[in-house]
Amino acid sequence: MADRKKNINGFAHLIDLPVITDPRGDLTFIESNEHIPFAIKRVYYLYNVPVDAERGGHAHRELEQIVFALSGSFRLKVDNGINKSEYWLRDPRKGLYINRMISREMDSFSQGAVCMVLASEHYDEDDYVREYDDFILSVNKGEK
Ligand code: TYD
Repeated sequence: MADRKKNINGFAHLIDLPVITDPRGDLTFIESNEHIPFAIKRVYYLYNVPVDAERGGHAHRELEQIVFALSGSFRLKVDNGINKSEYWLRDPRKGLYINRMISREMDSFSQGAVCMVLASEHYDEDDYVREYDDFILSVNKGEK
């Protein structure tokens, strides 16, 4: 139950990153455990995404992630099994932190959008909760 409370309170939130503005172009940087609340173990990015594509549609038992629109924009819907909210990501200085056991869906990608994800763990298919019914069952049981 403590974990569940943590998830509800720490559902998902935007993190503002530093930016060094310069006439030659802006620069943003991210350091593990400084600007974000975990050590980065993996980075992946989505690109060449068709505008009508839907990505995500799952939760993770242990994984924490931060999602950025490095270029273009897209919608990110998050759901902790009790509350839902949605964000439009379009600013490369703002990342959406997503806690463990949060279901997420991404759609409405703009042409040429690039989505970068910072992850707290290496890839592990066993960490995925891909069926929404299983996600709700786990939430109701107070499981991770
Ligand atoms: P998935 O996480 O389902 O994509 P999304 O949530 O963005 O729609 O991953 C799609 C496929 O890519 C799936 O077969 C697993 C594989 N994959 C990796 O091998 N390594 C990774 O780091 C990620 C994120 C996915």
